[in-house]
Order: sequence, then C-alpha cells, then structure tokens
Amino acid sequence: MCAGGPMLVHGPISIESEDGVVHESTRPVSAVCRCGATSRAPWCDGTHRLLPEKSRP
Ligand code: FES
Repeated sequence: MCAGGPMLVHGPISIESEDGVVHESTRPVSAVCRCGATSRAPWCDGTHRLLPEKSRP
C-alpha cells in the first residue's frame, strides 16, 4: 500500500470492473487505483498526487 496512493499488488493480477470487463496485468508489481481519479482504471496513473491531501485514500 502506498500512503495516499495506490494499492500495490505483487505478481499477476486479474480485476473485474463493475461493468464486467476483466483487466489483467502480468507486471511484477501492479498499482491499483484507490482514489478513483485515474484515467486508466483500475490502474493508478499518478493522478492521486494532484488531489488535495484530504481527498487522497
Ligand atoms: S491511486 Fe493513483 S491515480 Fe488513484
């Protein structure tokens, strides 16, 4: 977990979004957005750094 940022997941990961789309990553470490502001959900794109500190996860 990154304080105020994404959840870091080690190893392959598969996430199903609410609309049923499955997102897969085979990266050694994947950053999953927790703030909801990313433009490439479900993955973190760094946008959380632009949010006011109170709004960060
Ligand atoms: S946690 Fe990084 S963009 Fe949401």
